[in-house]
Amino acid sequence: MVLSADHYTSAERFETEKRRVFQRVPLVLAASCELPGPGAYKTVAVAGIPVLLVRDRQGKAHALLNACTHRGAAVATGCGSAVRFTCPYHGWTFGQDGTLLGVASAADFGTVDKAMLAMKRFPVTERAGLIWAILDPASTQNPADMLGGIDDLIAGFNLADWTMIENRTLPGPNWKLAFDAHLEFYHVPVLHRDTFGPERSNRAFYFAQGPHQRVIAPQGRPGALVPDDLYALGRLPTSGEPLAPLLMGEWILFPGTSINTFYTGGIRCVLVSIVAPGAEVATSTTTQTFLAETQPDEESRAAMSRMCAFLAHVVGDEDLPTSAFQQQVMATGMLGEVRFGRNEGGLQHFHGWLDRVIAADTSELPSLLAAPCPQ
Ligand code: FES
Ligand SMILES: [Fe+2]
Repeated sequence: MVLSADHYTSAERFETEKRRVFQRVPLVLAASCELPGPGAYKTVAVAGIPVLLVRDRQGKAHALLNACTHRGAAVATGCGSAVRFTCPYHGWTFGQDGTLLGVASAADFGTVDKAMLAMKRFPVTERAGLIWAILDPASTQNPADMLGGIDDLIAGFNLADWTMIENRTLPGPNWKLAFDAHLEFYHVPVLHRDTFGPERSNRAFYFAQGPHQRVIAPQGRPGALVPDDLYALGRLPTSGEPLAPLLMGEWILFPGTSINTFYTGGIRCVLVSIVAPGAEVATSTTTQTFLAETQPDEESRAAMSRMCAFLAHVVGDEDLPTSAFQQQVMATGMLGEVRFGRNEGGLQHFHGWLDRVIAADTSELPSLLAAPCPQ
């Protein structure tokens, strides 16, 4: 497959992706356990859109445009816990569901219709221990209708009951260059020879569910009862067998999330990597969130901290600098195109689906995203 380099550099292409992908399909914005109780909140940004995720008193997650309806200041930063949000500019206050509760010095300000001035709300759903939203306040679609069954597949992790260990955000170039590195293992023994080692397999099996994928190394998890791929290829009965081997590998949730599975300190862990476009074509962020299935003791927690630092090093010092160079050279206009081999099926699937989603009418999206992999 040949891809024109301007897919990574064109401001026009980037605008199209923002409007037709990032503002129309459900995006994973956080793991449920990052908002562990009533009032827990977290701020994120996708393609320049600031989002406030917050869990209300009833436990429901909300995704709000993080902008005060007075004059647009951010009502929250970072993460934490809050009963209400007070805008730091003039002091308007908002509830956990975005309702405008109070106008500062209301008698001086004048009359406002508070009901009309709630924070903008994005359609949101919480499934499989992840919080998904469609970043268009005007969207009438339910994100739960557009997951195409991928939520059912990963529900087996029970991520809602897991524990957040650490997270960090790494800057990168165009979001697709940052994400491409998640979609093949071809580069692993070469680029990561000093970290994962040169003896790692460079092969992968790719399994698709609509635009989503699961990528696994042919040898499966060391110590697994049987190789993962035999289960996945349907050569062994799965009834009565443990679910965990079927969930190992890397899950790619369209458009920009990957979930890597492994064991650390004897505990099953996942690294949820969310690659989000920045405000400009040549910028992105990769947010790595490390979750553990059970509360680690001190020793396991120390092992997890080392693993987090290691994974940040692999991605931050090996993958992303490589992607940044690719961005730079493509911006010269001199390379023209790049190519994906037979063994880079994950990239072919991803870039094919990106174009398919961009071309689709909004009304077609739920059925398109739920369809089996087109040939
Ligand atoms: S911008 Fe928020 S109170 Fe003025
Ligand atoms: Fe990599």
